[in-house]
Amino acid sequence: MIKTKMKDHNCGELNLSNINEEITLSGWVSTVRDLGGILFIELRDRSGFFQLVANPQINPDVHKVFEKVRSEYVITVRGKVTRRPEETYNEKYATGQVEMYPEFVEILSEAKTLPFVLDDENVSEDVRLKYRYLDIRREKMLHNLTLRHKICQAARNYLNNLDFLEVETPILIKTTPEGARDYLVPSRVQEGKFYALPQSPQIFKQLLMVGGIEKYYQIAKCFRDEDLRADRQPEFTQIDLEMSFVEQQDVIKVVEGLIVDTFKAAGVEVKPPFIQMPWQEAMDRFGSDKPDTRFGLELFDIGDIILQSEFQIVKNTLENGGIVRGIRIPGGAKFSRKDIDDITKLAVSFGAKALANIIYNEDGTAKSPVLKFVTEEQAKQIQDRAGAQAGDIIFFVADKPKLVYDIMGRLRLYFGKRLNLIDESKHNLLWVVDFPMFEWSDEEGRFMAMHHPFTSPCMEDLDKLKSGDLGNVKSIAYDIVYNGTELGGGSVRIHSSDVQSAVFKALGLTEEEAKEKFGFMVNALQYGTPPHAGLAIGLDRLVALLCRTESIRDVIAFPKNSGAKDLMSDAPGEASLQQLRELHLKSTAHK
Ligand code: AMO
Ligand code: AMP
Repeated sequence: MIKTKMKDHNCGELNLSNINEEITLSGWVSTVRDLGGILFIELRDRSGFFQLVANPQINPDVHKVFEKVRSEYVITVRGKVTRRPEETYNEKYATGQVEMYPEFVEILSEAKTLPFVLDDENVSEDVRLKYRYLDIRREKMLHNLTLRHKICQAARNYLNNLDFLEVETPILIKTTPEGARDYLVPSRVQEGKFYALPQSPQIFKQLLMVGGIEKYYQIAKCFRDEDLRADRQPEFTQIDLEMSFVEQQDVIKVVEGLIVDTFKAAGVEVKPPFIQMPWQEAMDRFGSDKPDTRFGLELFDIGDIILQSEFQIVKNTLENGGIVRGIRIPGGAKFSRKDIDDITKLAVSFGAKALANIIYNEDGTAKSPVLKFVTEEQAKQIQDRAGAQAGDIIFFVADKPKLVYDIMGRLRLYFGKRLNLIDESKHNLLWVVDFPMFEWSDEEGRFMAMHHPFTSPCMEDLDKLKSGDLGNVKSIAYDIVYNGTELGGGSVRIHSSDVQSAVFKALGLTEEEAKEKFGFMVNALQYGTPPHAGLAIGLDRLVALLCRTESIRDVIAFPKNSGAKDLMSDAPGEASLQQLRELHLKSTAHK
């Protein structure tokens, strides 16, 4: 440690080997206890706790000061480290065998009574966020921030060793194509013009490849104005990387090594290569492009059987481009009527119009309104396809593919939790590959890029791209998934301006719009562009998962709440009329 006049040792690092050393400590008063006139202080700093004692007979001057000291005061003390009487050894602390009767004490800072008890688990998150600087004093926050630091260092070390250059990219930029809403910053100098904050360094890292950097990384801040959830913040951090002269498998290999080292920093051992699962398989088996493979309950398809039956509603759905997927719940035949109603309501809340079920009774009979539409033979086929046994229940939904996958994927997760099937000790990492290039958006009434528009289509699908058969174009994109969370995503990029223009066109951008938005990018591609590819890992998600906490807020020093507000500083705040005028803006708040 750095030795200063105020502090030459850390509280938590003292032990019997320091006996008789004359030292200076500084820190926060964690507790003060009065035992028969003798005052005991637990002094805390980042490293841990250390016991101070003031006895009116032994160190009366110090005792006088200790009488004034309250919790969370900041003090400095000087004195000799002594051995505690053996019967008072405290096993709870690493320093539980030593203590100090200070010869000198000074109060550096007094503290008001804290608005909440630091270790009280019942304090609301809002209160903690309002006083985040106090919340950070908690051991859990310190642990999380420390692990975050270690993971960042592991990432930097790993990439440095592979010859990556860390390059910073700008925050005030034009716009990025990640598909979320931009945060805008009005320009004072250029009236009516706005910067956008980067949703990721995507364009700049590609331009660094054009610039010949070959291997880039950055621990980069990203900004996205989107609906927030436990694993989404308006500003978050990526471990962002890009490489030239590489293909998908090269990036995958580099990232697998990065995962190994960052997990190791958290004491978790994982062994690549990780499974590479085609997107279609992930959707078919798990109803999700970020499958949680720690448990079974895989989905199954009974479309071909239904098509042979008289189940007219579902047949219509299938004949109109729909699909049907089912899930088998072992032992589910004992669900009550109300249970099944609740599960159906849950499916409806996920967007289902109906959730069909078939109960396989213990006596070998089956029960379901659906059975009136199918022959005995078809009923048997369904049971075989589901692998259903006496005592099980199956559920199924028919609708448009995207909706069916989403509903069944979420039902699967629900049952995984409800039936306690998730083995929390597992670390399942896998790649999802072969993503579709485009995704139809009902809202926008057009195809959208599933990743971003700089993702390369598969070369064999170029004809489909040009002929407009967009639904069948695959991309060279890959996501890394950990225990059902998307940790990171990346792709091989387009390095030809022709293909780039074709993709913009497919996305419905006119030539002028493409030029206006990304013209500099298309231009750059015309001056000698190396084939390149990359990926970004969500650092906050990575750390949160390795800290085993649900919310990424727990691993960010000063996060926003679900309303994108900083409860501590009260950002976003109002702007004065003067500021708005300078920015050429009018606000309804000032009317
Ligand atoms: P993508 O948009 O998939 O890819 O983002 C990469 C990873 O960043 C994390 N992430 C978030 N974390 C917290 N809050 C958010 N709002 C948020 N949004 C995303 C996720 C995600 O997997 N430029 C591309 C990468 C590339 O192609 O190289 C990109 O940003 O963990
Ligand atoms: P009904 O004729 O209304 O009794 O419906 C027969 C069965 O079809 C019910 O069990 C419904 O749950 C089921 N059903 C109707 N539409 C769908 C659908 N889109 N997906 C799954 N099951 C459905």
